[in-house]
Amino acid sequence: MSTTPSPKLRPGVPPADRRTTSVAARATDLSKIYGQGETQVVALDRVTVEFRQAEFTAIMGPSGSGKSTLMHCVAGLDTFSSGSVRIGDTELGSLKDKQLTKLRRDKIGFIFQAFNLLPTLTALENITLPMDIAGRKPDKQWLDNVIQMVGLRDRLGHRPSQLSGGQQQRVAVARALASRPEIIFGDEPTGNLDSRSGAEVLGFLRNSVRELGQTVVMVTHDPVAASYADRVVFLADGRIVDEMYRPTAEGVLDFMKQFDAKGRTS
Ligand SMILES: Nc1ncnc2c1ncn2[C@@H]1O[C@H](COP(=O)(O)OP(=O)(O)OP(=O)(O)O)[C@@H](O)[C@H]1O
Ligand SMILES: [Mg+2]
Repeated sequence: MSTTPSPKLRPGVPPADRRTTSVAARATDLSKIYGQGETQVVALDRVTVEFRQAEFTAIMGPSGSGKSTLMHCVAGLDTFSSGSVRIGDTELGSLKDKQLTKLRRDKIGFIFQAFNLLPTLTALENITLPMDIAGRKPDKQWLDNVIQMVGLRDRLGHRPSQLSGGQQQRVAVARALASRPEIIFGDEPTGNLDSRSGAEVLGFLRNSVRELGQTVVMVTHDPVAASYADRVVFLADGRIVDEMYRPTAEGVLDFMKQFDAKGRTS
């Protein structure tokens, strides 16, 4: 056993090895404005943020702070007003619609709160659907690892209606992981689950980062869910106001109280 004392872990300080990993996605000076004139809403106000490979990031902030907008813009699901977004080496602003669709299909995995499973397909068919649409054969060994990790082996022939909510969400997680995307985005992926099923899904996401080197970005309102992440990015009024490394649920809760209080006094 090592006798070296572990370095003191401080939430605001990135781990030393973080600098050596490459960037999976980056937004630079990203703004998104909805509407015009009096009804104009600045949903994102010059946001610069990067998501590193094999890192699990949670995005938190009050309702309406721009979390979903940020995720949708970075994932190529929505257009932005100014700034730039890169997935790996690809600048999204330079892509035509068809190229963007292909990039989303090939490089990005999605997990939504409503699982978006097709009711007529089995669990296995749902998991491989994005690859089937793309005409790609799944890597059998990889698929096997993913199915093992989410514990669905004995449910592969079931249709979504024959699965519990937690199992359906695990199918959605497996579907996102199956094609080994460069990055997985989840918008409150455990929002509809009870705390036990939610903890399972979060555990799988964390394992996929630790064991499989997956990159995951997840929007959540829940400090406990955020504590599964390596890092939390806090948004308020369309801006990034802070970030925290190695979050604990208590630390996140404390932090949110503090910036709630700031919001009231400013
Ligand atoms: N299609 C739209 N048209 C006009 N305004 C919009 C539209 N979509 C979002 N907004 C506004 O942009 C802001 C950010 O919305 P967003 O959905 O990103 O918030 P959020 O942080 O995800 O909130 P929640 O936690 O409630 O999901 C909000 O003020 C919202 O009202
Ligand atoms: Mg949202």
